[in-house]
Amino acid sequence: MKIKSVDLRHMHTTALMRRCLFMLILVLVMTACSQRKGYVIGVSQCSEDIWRDKLNDELRMGTYLFDNVELRIASANDDDQRQIAQIDSLVASGIDLLFVSPNQMNTVSEAIDRAYDRGIPVIYFDRKTNSDKYTAFIGADNYAIGRTMGHYLATQLGGKGRVVEITGLKDSSPAIERHRGFTDELKAYPGIRLVCVSHGSWTRKSGEQAMNEILSQTDDFDCVFAQNDRMVDGARDVMSRKAAGRKVTYIGVDALPMPDGGMHRVKDGTMLASYLYPTRGDLVMQLAMNILEGKPYKRENYLQSAIVTPDNVDAMLMQADEMAQQRDRLEVLHKQVDRYLVQYNHQKVFLLLSSIIIALLIVFFIYIYRTIIMKRRLAEETVNAKLQFFTNVSHEFRTPLTLIADPVDRLLADPKTSEEQRRLLQLVRKNVSMMLRLVGEILDFRKVQNGKMNVEASSFDLAAGLREWTGNFGPVAQKKHIAMNTSMPETLVVCTDRNKVERICYNLMSNAMKYTPEGGCINVSLAGGEGGSFTLAVADTGIGIPADKLPHVFDRFYQVKHGSGGTGIGLALVKSFVDLLGGTVRVNSSEGRGAEFVVSLPAAKPSAKENQAQSGPEPDRLAEEYIAADSIDAADAPNSRADIMTSPDDDGEREEILVVDDNDDMRKYIGTLLSDRYNVSYASNGREGLDKAVSEVPGLIVCDVMMPEMDGLEMCRRIKTTTATSHIPVILLTANAMDTQRADGYDCGADAYIVKPFSGKVLTARVRNLIESRRQLKNIYAQGETDEAQPESMDKHFMNEFRAKVNEHLADPELNVETLSAELGLSRVQMYRKVKALTGSTPVELIRITRLKRADKLLKAGGHTVSEVSYEVGFSSPSYFSKCYKDYFGHTPNGK
Ligand code: FRU
Repeated sequence: MKIKSVDLRHMHTTALMRRCLFMLILVLVMTACSQRKGYVIGVSQCSEDIWRDKLNDELRMGTYLFDNVELRIASANDDDQRQIAQIDSLVASGIDLLFVSPNQMNTVSEAIDRAYDRGIPVIYFDRKTNSDKYTAFIGADNYAIGRTMGHYLATQLGGKGRVVEITGLKDSSPAIERHRGFTDELKAYPGIRLVCVSHGSWTRKSGEQAMNEILSQTDDFDCVFAQNDRMVDGARDVMSRKAAGRKVTYIGVDALPMPDGGMHRVKDGTMLASYLYPTRGDLVMQLAMNILEGKPYKRENYLQSAIVTPDNVDAMLMQADEMAQQRDRLEVLHKQVDRYLVQYNHQKVFLLLSSIIIALLIVFFIYIYRTIIMKRRLAEETVNAKLQFFTNVSHEFRTPLTLIADPVDRLLADPKTSEEQRRLLQLVRKNVSMMLRLVGEILDFRKVQNGKMNVEASSFDLAAGLREWTGNFGPVAQKKHIAMNTSMPETLVVCTDRNKVERICYNLMSNAMKYTPEGGCINVSLAGGEGGSFTLAVADTGIGIPADKLPHVFDRFYQVKHGSGGTGIGLALVKSFVDLLGGTVRVNSSEGRGAEFVVSLPAAKPSAKENQAQSGPEPDRLAEEYIAADSIDAADAPNSRADIMTSPDDDGEREEILVVDDNDDMRKYIGTLLSDRYNVSYASNGREGLDKAVSEVPGLIVCDVMMPEMDGLEMCRRIKTTTATSHIPVILLTANAMDTQRADGYDCGADAYIVKPFSGKVLTARVRNLIESRRQLKNIYAQGETDEAQPESMDKHFMNEFRAKVNEHLADPELNVETLSAELGLSRVQMYRKVKALTGSTPVELIRITRLKRADKLLKAGGHTVSEVSYEVGFSSPSYFSKCYKDYFGHTPNGK
């Protein structure tokens, strides 16, 4: 059972640990999940060049404004097939949105459509396809660019001149739109002739090739319009090589502000103008996020821009420079933020790990702590179980010891006992006393432990007491050839609990006696100390106590292994008593060199009530004190000795007493104690006792508590709740000294509770006392109406009911005991005994008295003849009425 409870505790601890770990994991998971959901954006660039690089940089910076956006950039390097493969793999990687700049109108649209069909939003930027499957477009208006450049060129040439055009990749949307815009615009200037159009593919190299092609057809032109600045560079290279002397102006598109970009070409005059082809990665990102977050957005988004000419190039460069610086600063800031973020994340992980470690440590320490507590509790429980066992055994011992001690006392008191027998009986008595002392020690220890032990202080001469107590050990010491030396003042009056000091002294001396070998010496000393205390020391020249055992000598059941016997409780009791009296006890010892126990106690115990008159018990009667102290409590004690001695036994009839006990000897012994005054009947368990009580309705019941079949408490409860038996006084007799059990006994209605071992005198006194109390009660019940002030009880109720029934049927001459008892639900005998016990009169007498009292009232009221009255109150014959009346009132109904 115990092991089971420990296991449960262990399981509880393990469950606690499991719960902690679960909480930790939960915290980790929650921390991991607390990051906002991120977006993955796929970017499919058709080419690789500085314009694309700028766009990609801006896109990356655009992501800084949003939490948790990941860009996956792929560049096809002007290769359609490559771009198709890249789009497919971006889609397969699980992107949330696709930015795409399709290389050509028709070649890659299928892959883009596939992505769109899978529900991935598609944003075209800068270039388009011929498919309508896109979510939004963002970029410059290339048609407008073509027109702007045509207009500027025409104006610069004064409306007259020859122009050649190098287009971008033939099937790419900007190339088509720019050309359309350019040619449409030139229509307004008939003096301007577009003499040759050659197709490049947006690269410098393609610019060279286109220029070569143009030169192979004509070298008569004033201006070259290439659809981007890179191709202008290629064309100019060719021109400088092949037609160095020709004065040709160049215009392009892109106007990038980098050193080799178009803006610087305009600035240094190598190019007449360029169009600032906007990248605006920030706006592209904003559009993407609007789509992803379900915010409103426009499907077609045209970016505004401007032509860069020598007139505005400085301002444009400044602006570009300013923007570049800001971008750089932003980049630095972002990197810093990134660094802090990394640091923060490291710290978070560190914090988390630290928390986990701390939590684990806490769990670990809790586990260790609980284990220690559990072990301690287990040890405590073991000791308690031992103590409980010894307590139970002690209780069991007390009954047989009583059965020995009390008859021995009776024999010792018998003058017929011979001297020889007396000597033997004294030996028996001495050993019984010793056993009772041991038993008492265990029970006392339990009492101290349960806080039930009181301090009863009285003033006494401790020096005299100590001389007497040590003197008692004289014969033993002599026998063992042990010298006993005492050192104490002539008198030392102290105010403390004499009994407990004696017990302390007794235990220390018997301990010394036990461990001192023949020829040794025991020194007992007493001295008044400072501050109103005294010190009692018992030193021996015995075997001593090893140093490592010293701290345990006062532990319960602890015995230094010397094989000298003992219960291991004596010194523990010393410590308990010393603590109770507010003192200290210590031991000085080393192995082989004896031991000295020193007790210091307050000489006056101001808080304790001093029992002035009390003198200590005779040392040789100490064992008897054990009996007396435990067997009679205040409630059980007879009111006075006079009560016991002088109370009349009975009114002539011998009272019936039922003794219920499962112990045959105990039953017989109680019988012996009571049979000279009472008629005793017996039952050997509660059930039998109850049956006998109901059928015989005895005058008193003496009953054991612990019995098979039905225990004494239950039997008592039933007796007290059964009409026929509720009036019977019950004395519970038990080996249980626990106050709670005593309270249980009273709760069941017991009239007295006597603890075993009890003295025969106390039991007989208690029996007589209860019978006498019952007799006094009879007078109350006998006086007609029951006293209203008397507490409501079954018996009071019964008597009221009895009287009500009698009054109800008073005029009925047929009213008799049979009908009455039947109406009250009792047998004839039960009613007879109960009424007799409660009132001292028989039911018949009570009926007659009630009739006569009523008759008296009627006669006094006048107006009735004697015979009328006699019939009225149920007498069948007026002459018999007159006789009874005279017997009761002493005169006839006529007043004679
Ligand atoms: C960059 C680029 C630019 C041009 C644009 C047209 O890749 O070639 O020079 O203006 O693309 O899409």
